[in-house]
This record gives sequence, structure tokens and C-alpha cells, in this order.
Amino acid sequence: MYNFAANRFMAVILFKNIKSIIQAYETSPGIKKGADMARLTTLDNAWMVTRDEFIDSFGSMDTWNSIIEKFPDAEVIDVTGKFIMPAFCDSHTHIVYAGSRENEFVYKIKGMSYEDIAKQGGGIINSAKRLQQTGEDELYENAQRRINEMMKMGTGAVEIKSGYGLTTTDEIKMLRVVKRLKETNTIAVKSTFLGAHAMPVEYKENRQGYIDEITQKMLPQIAEEGLADYCDVFCDKGFFTVEETDQILSKASELGMKPKIHANELDYSGGIQVGVKYGAISVDHLEFTGNEEIETLAQSNTMPTLLPSTAFFLRLHYPPARKMMDAGLPLSLASDYNPGSSPSGNMFFIMSLACIQMKMLPEEVINAATINASYAMELNHTHGSITPGKAASFIITEEIPSYTYLMYSFGRPCVSQVFVKGKLVC
Ligand code: NIG
Ligand code: FE
Repeated sequence: MYNFAANRFMAVILFKNIKSIIQAYETSPGIKKGADMARLTTLDNAWMVTRDEFIDSFGSMDTWNSIIEKFPDAEVIDVTGKFIMPAFCDSHTHIVYAGSRENEFVYKIKGMSYEDIAKQGGGIINSAKRLQQTGEDELYENAQRRINEMMKMGTGAVEIKSGYGLTTTDEIKMLRVVKRLKETNTIAVKSTFLGAHAMPVEYKENRQGYIDEITQKMLPQIAEEGLADYCDVFCDKGFFTVEETDQILSKASELGMKPKIHANELDYSGGIQVGVKYGAISVDHLEFTGNEEIETLAQSNTMPTLLPSTAFFLRLHYPPARKMMDAGLPLSLASDYNPGSSPSGNMFFIMSLACIQMKMLPEEVINAATINASYAMELNHTHGSITPGKAASFIITEEIPSYTYLMYSFGRPCVSQVFVKGKLVC
């Protein structure tokens, strides 16, 4: 934990006249579940102090004079009319990729489904071919460009998956790129191994051969090099079965890697249940979630993570968010930024979609994209709320009438400045 003792070499910044601090907590809150998701803790007419890369303190403008006396030499930023909120935690992305897939976008307009495209060798297999021909430096630079773009739209932590390598060499190559991104970025990065993203063409008739490659070659090497925080599987119709997922997650857990998996996007795949069985940190997508799945989630510590821009882009029906919250579940939101089903990392748009298409309330989506999302990537001790000692990773909004305006004014990040670990991003 951060040492609060005064250190005169650290940069102190005072923010004054904040219209309201969203998620203002003296100590870090727990997961927001069920009815609690609609409760947002705010402090109106406030000041906030950051010291170096951390949030130091906050309070009401009534006590401003004492703060000025305490930090007479600090820089002061007046944010009259603007809100301060925690930067987003984007707990599910695939931003290391080569090329783009706008040709498939046109096939979809003409009526093909995501699964049809995949069956004909397009989709993930298409991205894998291109990634296999691309060097590490180029992959790194492209992913870095995406991170820069995401930070400008308010993202302060990102999880990144492999899964476009689909050979031991190329999966490792992807994860090394993620490792480099971790080492060179201010933004917090978590890495996830997703070797089971699609069945490589050469294994079509020998599925077990690829599962063995994952469990006997990829996972041990990844664990040895410490290349992944989590293990993912695309457990869904046309991709990986529950039985195959079970084999992979069993090996991963033996090696100390917790699951975060793709589940129930295309069917009632059993993905939620197998994820929960292995103590998944999160299960993601969940378009096909019924009573049985809700019951399983209710008895677990797994964070259900919804990716509404994927449902939007692929014209899927949306997950039953209201029903899940009514049953007492927590929800988290992420972008799924990838070339095939969600070529955008704009969390403001994700929040608007969640309100418009899944009937989530503004308070619920803010909780889902900040504090709950921090739990979905195990960063709740450092991210997800404006709390003394946490990272100074936050958004200063434009001058807006209310926080609801953030979702109402869809398609556009209402951001005037973003700080990531105390550094001004834009
Ligand atoms: O999360 N659903 C599986 N994987 C990605 C899509 C990847 C792709 O199409 O390239 C997703 O939507
Ligand atoms: Fe995904």
C-alpha cells in the first residue's frame, strides 16, 4: 500500500470545484450485486488531491481552505462543471491482432452469420493466418496504438488475450507482445492465454490432437515463462465443447492459472457451468443465459461480464441483464475489442448500448464498467473507485448536466481529460 507520509519530491495536484466525484469511497467498496448495482456513491461540489501516481484524498469544497493551506505549492486545476469518475477497467479485449476484417463486415450485411463465416475459414482463422505472418514489433506497435486510443476514451486498465496464434510458437509470440505492453505501459495490463479460440484447420479431423498441444505444450511453457495471468476457452457451439474446456481448465488450474472464459455467446453451451466449476474470475458474453445458468452464477464468486458491442455488431440478441440483476447477480461490462466482432474499445458507447439495448440504468452501467469491472480483472485493490491509495487513473468529463448525459449522448466519449496513474493522457 502507498505510504501517505508527506514526500516533498512527489507531484501533488489539487482539483477543485468538481461538480461531483462518482464512486467516491474512503475505503474500497465490494462487488455491486442485484439491487445494489443501482446505487452510486457520489460527492457533489468536491475537491480531490492526487500525489504522484495515487489518489491522496478528497472532500467537500467547504473544506477547500484547509487543503490549500496543507499544499501551498501544489498545482491547482479548476474543473468547474465537470465530473470526475474512475477510469474504465476493460476486462476483455483481443487488441493484439494483425490486419482487419471489414470484408466479413460486408458478408454479414449480405446475410452471412458469424458462424457461417467461421465455417468457411474466415473469422478467427483468417486473423490467425495474418498474425502468423506478422512480426512481434509490428504487433506491438499496432496494439500500442489501440491502447493509446483507448486511454484517450477513458480506459485505465486492460485485459488482453492471445488466441490469434493457434500454434505454440504464435500463441507464445502473442503473449510476449502482451508482456512487453505490460512492461512499457502506465496503464495496468492483464494477460490471458486463449489458445482454444478456434480449431486450427489442420486439426479439424483430430480435435484431441490440438487439445493435447494446448495442455501438454502451450500451457506448461506459458506457465514456466509466466506469460499469462488467466486461461480462456471459447466454449461455444461450433468452437470448443464442455469436455474439451474441462480438459484445458483442469490443466490450467494445475499450473495455477485461473479461468476467464468465453461462454454462452452462440448457444446454451454449458460454458458458464464449466467456468464456475473451475472458479473462473469471470465468464463473458452470456447472450444465452437461462434460469439454470443464473442459479449456477448465484452460487459462485464468478463475475458475469457482458459485451454488448459484440451483440450489436453481430446482431445477436442481448444477454438478459435485467433478469440477471433481478436475481441478485453482479454484472460487469467490457468492450471485447477485436477485429471480428467488436472493432472498437469505446467504453462510453458500451455503456450507452447497455442502457439502450439491455435496459440497464445509468448507475448500473457505471458500476458495471468501473468497480465490478475491476473485480473482473482482479484489480479492485488499485482501480475501480476514487479511493485514497488507489491509482490516480480517472476521467474528467466535459461540462455536462448530469452523469446520465454520458450514456444519453451516445457514440462520443464525453471526456475533457484523462489521467492514468497520475499522468495526463489527454
Ligand atoms: O469475443 N467469441 C469469440 N471471440 C471473439 C471474436 C474474435 C474474432 O472474431 O476475431 C469475441 O467475440
Ligand atoms: Fe472475446
